[in-house]
Amino acid sequence: MTAEPVPSSRSLFERALAVIPGGVSSPVRAFNAVGGTPRFMVSGSGPWLTDADGRRYVDLVCSWGPLLLGHAHPEVTAAVQAAVARGTSFGTPTEPELELAEEIVARTPVERVRFVSSGTEATMSAIRLARGFTGRDVVIKFAGCYHGHVDSLLAAAGSGLMTLRGALSVPGTPGVPASSTDLTLVLPYGDRDAVTAAFAEHGERIACLITEAAPGNMGVVPPEEGFNAFLAETCRTHGALFVSDEVMTGFRASRQGQWGLDGAREGWVPDLMTFGKVMGGGFPAAAFGGRADVMTRLSPEGPVYQAGTLSGNPVATTAGLATLRLATDDVYDHLHAAGATIRAALADALSAAGVAHVVQTAGTMFSVFFTDRPVRNFEDASTTDEAAYAAFFHAMLERGVYLPPSAYEAWFLSAAHDDEALGVILDALPAAATAAAQAQEAS
Ligand SMILES: Cc1ncc(COP(=O)(O)O)c(C=O)c1O
Repeated sequence: MTAEPVPSSRSLFERALAVIPGGVSSPVRAFNAVGGTPRFMVSGSGPWLTDADGRRYVDLVCSWGPLLLGHAHPEVTAAVQAAVARGTSFGTPTEPELELAEEIVARTPVERVRFVSSGTEATMSAIRLARGFTGRDVVIKFAGCYHGHVDSLLAAAGSGLMTLRGALSVPGTPGVPASSTDLTLVLPYGDRDAVTAAFAEHGERIACLITEAAPGNMGVVPPEEGFNAFLAETCRTHGALFVSDEVMTGFRASRQGQWGLDGAREGWVPDLMTFGKVMGGGFPAAAFGGRADVMTRLSPEGPVYQAGTLSGNPVATTAGLATLRLATDDVYDHLHAAGATIRAALADALSAAGVAHVVQTAGTMFSVFFTDRPVRNFEDASTTDEAAYAAFFHAMLERGVYLPPSAYEAWFLSAAHDDEALGVILDALPAAATAAAQAQEAS
């Protein structure tokens, strides 16, 4: 009898390639941009991930943002286990769903919330609602902002598509008919003149403008002071809705997301907001919400149809509720402090190795660009040195740090990233910076 083969990322990946396109269930998980074999993870605990070969990594992806408290937080796990034991789905309203909606309403300016299962569904539904509410059809988005894989929004849509195609095109992928993006206007991020001109020309037809509250899908590009307020005001003047996509920033950039960093201080509110990631606590839960008079146009109260078999699922909403209740000010203070430590060491290491770089932040979110200019939009982001990042990524991976396998992504920390985890990151940075410098010399 032959022994069972030892599971390893490589052999699992080879099997996966035979049955799953590209061996991954979402393209950003592939290592296409950095080369090599994606690691198959078998467990996570706090800031640590363990792969199928038994190697441990400090996780700076945190499931692409949701795991604000780290992996397998004991209280979240206990709440989820209790919820599973009560039954996994009823297809009826439940209390956890109601409590999570109340928590979201308490933290953000939205007055009503509708749950869905992914950020993509949230933005797709928000746009349908904006069109249904205004009776108009045109949508404005910004180049480099990603709002999920909604047909009409897959135009210049940031990291995943940049990593795969490295090019700006409309539509951004085969399979989306031109008729789906014909009604989407794509503008350069941060360009007030372009926004003013688009509204001057098409104002009567614009249903909504959607933006990432602080773009994180072309790397982190914080909005300039007053930019989101300007967007909200321009939309209001022209009778269009301002849709702020906080799927990534929500409950992460700050306790109140990016809105807590600008809208709450400046006194304006988006008409609609979208949420996902952190509010699902590692489960497939997302939401959109906003002004009561807009949200009540949704079915069954109003005529705009929107639905979902597993929407507001009791296990997912229990995980999200437990996560948000544990996401206290201390958590955000910790994310700020840990982020500052990493950013300083990262900048020091890259400077010492002579690698041009820019580190940018939005609240507790941050990312590094291997370029010599501040990144304000998609065009600036595209100047990043992808080969240098690939070398940096692999050097970090070898030293036990799991970074996003793409040069255009935010790095995500959790409340569980303690001194031990930070120590592993800081120790790995100098050699990774040297590897990036060597890649630049070789090119
Ligand atoms: C800002 C933003 N909107 C929407 C989405 C889509 O969310 P999901 O991947 O859950 O469909 C993402 C995912 O990364 C996102 O970052």
